[in-house]
Amino acid sequence: MNNKEKILIIDDEMAPRESIRMVLKDRYAVSTATGALEGLQYISQEPVDLVVMDIKMPKMDGITALQEIKKSYPDTEVVLLTAYASLETARDAIRFGAFDYLLKPFDRNDILQVVEKGLARRRSNTVLKQERDILMDRASYLERQVSEARSNIMMCYEGTVKALILTIDAKDSYTHSHSNRVAILSSSIAASLGVPQQTIKETRYAASIHDIGKIGIDENILKKNGRLTDDEYTEMRNHPAIGVRIVQSVPFLEDAIPVILYHHERYDGKGYPEGIQGEKIPKSARIVNVADAIDAMMSARPYRGALVMSNVMSELRDNAGTQFDPDIVDIILKGRVSLI
Ligand SMILES: [Fe+2]
Repeated sequence: MNNKEKILIIDDEMAPRESIRMVLKDRYAVSTATGALEGLQYISQEPVDLVVMDIKMPKMDGITALQEIKKSYPDTEVVLLTAYASLETARDAIRFGAFDYLLKPFDRNDILQVVEKGLARRRSNTVLKQERDILMDRASYLERQVSEARSNIMMCYEGTVKALILTIDAKDSYTHSHSNRVAILSSSIAASLGVPQQTIKETRYAASIHDIGKIGIDENILKKNGRLTDDEYTEMRNHPAIGVRIVQSVPFLEDAIPVILYHHERYDGKGYPEGIQGEKIPKSARIVNVADAIDAMMSARPYRGALVMSNVMSELRDNAGTQFDPDIVDIILKGRVSLI
């Protein structure tokens, strides 16, 4: 019967080997081996559920064989056979993983009871193992779900950024192409400063929507060909705060808020909206502030032409430490960021 649990009896003496086989043969699929090496060889070809094994055997003793079995087949239960003289050894063998021992001479009921208990432990271990495997499968399924959800969120993030950029474009196409160039320049500056890859990516996204608040500014002011009046300038200065109101309801755009709010702060504290200065201005906002100014200077506007590169560089040099973060200006003056 294939469904019977498999037991291997290992004993160099025929009498105990056969008497145990007779007791167990009707209930289980019983095999025998006349020594430890033969037994190990058998198990390597035909795994068994339980081994009944004598301690005292020539060539390899039962304790050594027990350790070999537990090393290669930890789920196989082992019951040791011992004479009174080796009783202490049998007791010690429990710590090597033996399930129990039988003291010679054996009683039929003792044999059945110990073997059945050993097999019961093996069954429950098998169930535990199956449950653990199921849990591991579920855990890896959940892991896959989480990573799928994460990439969906990233796609949603990218989609939202694109939608916001298109919204800027619909209002003012100069701002759109300007924001794209500022995004590229900002990420180059961030990379030259040696910030982590994730921060470079966040700075790029934030820079691409840094002027999103201009959606809330009157088109006549945005597209005006000439100097703004004081009132118009006051309204224009609201675009960082309007931008924050637009993105703050989108949790994954939170990282863009410092750039949106502080990209018009000056290093000397004379900027807006809060007049914070120096290192108190988030680094990403200081980067975008410089990139924003460079692109504005290099772009031709209806009311003035584009500045030549040498003039852009002098403007940066003259305003380092007042309008701009001097360290960021420094890396640009040293040519570590391509401006073309
Ligand atoms: Fe702006």
